[in-house]
Amino acid sequence: MDIVRVLLVGVCGYGANYINEISEARPEGVRISGIVEVKEGIEELYPIIREQSIPVYKSVEDFYKEHEADLAVIATPIHLHFEQIRCCIRHGSSVLTEKPVCTSVEGARKLQEDEKQYGKFISVGYQLDYSRDVQALKRDILTGRLGRAVSMKCLHACRRGEKYYRRNGWAGKISVNGCAVNDSPFNNACAHQFQIMTFLLGDAFDEAAELKCVTGEVYRGNPGVENFDIAAVKAVSRSGVPIFYYTGHPCREKKIGPEARYTFEKGTVYYGHDFGEGPVNEYVLQKNDGNLVNYGAVEKGARLQKFYDAIRAVREHGRPVCTVQCAIPHLQAVEALADLPVTDIPEKEVDVVTEDGETFHEVKRFKEIFQTCYENQLMPSEVTDSWGK
Ligand SMILES: NC(=O)c1ccc[n+]([C@@H]2O[C@H](COP(=O)([O-])OP(=O)(O)OC[C@H]3O[C@@H](n4cnc5c(N)ncnc54)[C@H](O)[C@@H]3O)[C@@H](O)[C@H]2O)c1
Repeated sequence: MDIVRVLLVGVCGYGANYINEISEARPEGVRISGIVEVKEGIEELYPIIREQSIPVYKSVEDFYKEHEADLAVIATPIHLHFEQIRCCIRHGSSVLTEKPVCTSVEGARKLQEDEKQYGKFISVGYQLDYSRDVQALKRDILTGRLGRAVSMKCLHACRRGEKYYRRNGWAGKISVNGCAVNDSPFNNACAHQFQIMTFLLGDAFDEAAELKCVTGEVYRGNPGVENFDIAAVKAVSRSGVPIFYYTGHPCREKKIGPEARYTFEKGTVYYGHDFGEGPVNEYVLQKNDGNLVNYGAVEKGARLQKFYDAIRAVREHGRPVCTVQCAIPHLQAVEALADLPVTDIPEKEVDVVTEDGETFHEVKRFKEIFQTCYENQLMPSEVTDSWGK
């Protein structure tokens, strides 16, 4: 089996998953040819570095002065992706980058040109796209089993407190050093559930549906955050399918949802739906005749299936399913939301709570308001005037 040489870029945040996976699973034919990380002392964190004499650099440029890689895995801050991806691809590596692929649609289109010019792929780490149950559902959509898509909606929020925002210099920021970051629950922690709706609506297996318009309302529940931390989004795909998404961080519950309902001509796909015995956290199709198809019966694949698919694509000269194009609709929405005015939720509507030494801002009626919005495809201002809009 051909050895696939892997460069890991950013290993102390989410990127720890990749180095830990390689350290623990020791996938056959995979070798770490180098690490790029600006933090000091990573040899203490990851024994594999000394054990395999893996060279560590502070920049991708420095790595390529001395080495080559077949695949670069990028898990650095969002605003660094574009330049790092370009550097890797120009030095002959295909790339698996964490989402979002970069910070603008324009940048993403340039990356597509680079892929063509250098004959390498860029795959994006929206992990749901790689999950075999989602892929089975997408195949059924593409073959027409569900009929035409009518509408899609999802509610997914997760509580994040001060530790989350303090973990680096870009969390919750609009821009860093003059570069747009637009970090928010929509762009980062809760990005997946929006992106998956556009992926499922794509015209081909490795395409997502681009958007013809995006509107919405964005709010700030935590006054310490520069960008918005709550978003209600209404997008419409180019083929006219409305997509509603509700997300945020300053909620009381650790997690709300994901709860999703995708309506098609011949049935409805649910995620997190209660059919009478509690929420089912799987994609379940309820056909119009009442029969259920539970996609949860499909083996989902590995936790880091996106990594294994990228390795395989390198070996087989293929291309993983989540292409740069699949990342574009989400970026279209990120850019559209960045143009909206942010409404501050009045202080009296927000509790500040300390739990296990961490402080959280909790919008009092977050769940109730968003549940009503989700059920009725509404914006918060149509449901309440308590959020100050
Ligand atoms: N797929 C997912 O579920 C998921 C979850 C969390 C984060 N992410 C994504 O992972 C990426 C990183 O997010 P994070 O929260 O880990 O960020 P982070 O800022 O906490 O960590 C980023 C890592 O990159 C390193 N780094 C910073 N500048 C660097 C440089 N110039 N060169 C090399 N390394 C550098 C940092 O030291 C750190 O190790 C983002 O794109 C984020 O959206 C994805």
